[in-house]
Amino acid sequence: MIEPDKLLDGARVAAEIRDEVAAEVQALAARGVTPRLDVVLVGDDPASEVYVRSKAKASAELGMRSVTHALPASTGRAELEGLVDRLNADTEVHGILVQLPLPAAIPSAAILDRIDPGKDVDGFHPVNVGLLQQGRPRLVPCTPAGIMELLAREGIDPKGRRAVVVGRSDIVGKPMAMLLLHAHATVTLCHSRTADLAAATRSAEILIVAAGRRGLIGAEHVAPGAVVVDVGMHRVTDRAVVEKLFPGDPKKMAAFEKRGAVLCGDVDTTRVAPIAGRITPVPGGVGPLTIAMLMANTVRAATLRREETP
Ligand code: GUN
Repeated sequence: MIEPDKLLDGARVAAEIRDEVAAEVQALAARGVTPRLDVVLVGDDPASEVYVRSKAKASAELGMRSVTHALPASTGRAELEGLVDRLNADTEVHGILVQLPLPAAIPSAAILDRIDPGKDVDGFHPVNVGLLQQGRPRLVPCTPAGIMELLAREGIDPKGRRAVVVGRSDIVGKPMAMLLLHAHATVTLCHSRTADLAAATRSAEILIVAAGRRGLIGAEHVAPGAVVVDVGMHRVTDRAVVEKLFPGDPKKMAAFEKRGAVLCGDVDTTRVAPIAGRITPVPGGVGPLTIAMLMANTVRAATLRREETP
């Protein structure tokens, strides 16, 4: 349970961003442009299918067009490259997102490198990564961009604060560290080989956890009053684990009885929330922000193209 005054309400901020994006979509429509996002899904990973569906739904709700290209797991590299080439060349398409992970036989880097950087709404292309690192952000990865929006709109200024990021992925950890650095935080980037993780994370005034490990961050990892942002998302189907993570929480237990699973993050919220100053919930924290920023990036890609086209 998170006390209401501690809650960092990602869902509320995401709704605010979506309203703003919807207004921008209308303004573009008045000039004859309907932003279009094309999502490429290869294989039948159930989690990816859920994400892709929610992206398509969000696009439709905001008045944008969205096309999903669902390809079988047997799809080869050349075939996928051909699709990316066609989407790059299609002037109707403003944003391209290739859902990760790809089947092991296809090298992700080669596919991501092939996407037109101006349509790269994930912000994973080396050109966009480089621009971010130089402090000239253009299309920025959605999850870290969403977290920066959350902090800003909740009145949390990273300037001069000690920020610790746990996890060094290209999708979250590295761009997150870069954004916090550009916002004048003093940034520490931790990962699975960090010696004495708790000592490092206890130094954080702002702690961002994107390690991909359920319940990794406990009470011993968090300084009193810290702002804690939990990027993790795990489906727990083991009753003993649910009881350990959420002791005496009738709501979580009822949800478990009903669905046979509950969601939790990388942070042991039951034990960390009493210590933290502010904390995001899972679900309803970072997840909705990621989708909102994907919509924002698609509108941005459409707007940048309009500005660049003579
Ligand atoms: N898989 C997990 N997160 C992401 C994301 O942000 N973008 C893409 N393309 N795939 C993902």
